[in-house]
Amino acid sequence: MKTKQTIAIIGASGNMGSAISRSLSRGNYRLLLCAKDLEKVQAVAADIKTSYPGAEVEAVDCTKEASWEADIIINAVPYAAEKEIAEKIREVANQKIVISIANPLNETYDGLVTAPDTSAAEELQKLLPNSKVVKAFNTTFAADFSTPVIDGKQVDAFIAGNDKEALQVVSELVKTAGFHPIVAGNLPVSGTLERMQLLLIQLNMKYDYNWLAGWKILHQ
Ligand SMILES: NC(=O)c1ccc[n+]([C@@H]2O[C@H](COP(=O)([O-])OP(=O)(O)OC[C@H]3O[C@@H](n4cnc5c(N)ncnc54)[C@H](OP(=O)(O)O)[C@@H]3O)[C@@H](O)[C@H]2O)c1
Repeated sequence: MKTKQTIAIIGASGNMGSAISRSLSRGNYRLLLCAKDLEKVQAVAADIKTSYPGAEVEAVDCTKEASWEADIIINAVPYAAEKEIAEKIREVANQKIVISIANPLNETYDGLVTAPDTSAAEELQKLLPNSKVVKAFNTTFAADFSTPVIDGKQVDAFIAGNDKEALQVVSELVKTAGFHPIVAGNLPVSGTLERMQLLLIQLNMKYDYNWLAGWKILHQ
């Protein structure tokens, strides 16, 4: 049997952090939930325990401590807070997988704040040079997590990263969350994934495009 991995979810009280935590609590993981406000993550942990009494989930008030204990760290905070988080976890995240889910949207949601030749994930990798940053979950919406299925098929969730083993670990995690993982390429592909999501948001704003449907390549 595989050893149980510990995952720290930073920003676990937010829309995405709580949805990811809830979906991963079905898997063979120990989850450490953290955010600025301990009471909020305690409420998320209690809610998960009610739905999944067997889940190993704890609310923790120290991001650095949770990241030190974790094998995998999910950074589920807004892009603007990533630098602050990276500074807190840098020395305890060495050689660990750090998942970047951020879409670096501007305030009016019609552009990205990152330069055209980079991405939120690559910027996080620069801040955490000794970690294995993997892009995942940025093309899934928080609302998709309750039913990640279209026409009976799992919604695709794109992944990008440079480390083969880390990509495999994250693919398993994405599967546990209920999505169909697709490795899209190396870390620089994150820029395309972030712009894809910007497009989806733009289409929703202009045409009320059904963004709950997310992305789905309809396989045979
Ligand atoms: N919403 C979506 O459907 C969606 C889809 C794909 C990707 N994303 C990405 O997911 C990330 C989170 O989005 P969201 O919609 O879940 O946002 P959200 O609901 O506002 O949640 C943000 C979380 O980050 C925490 N946080 C904020 N600043 C922090 C700091 N300085 N230190 C520690 N924790 C901090 C918040 O804690 P407090 O509540 O205590 O402030 C909260 O738990 C963003 O990067 C976004 O681009 C979102």
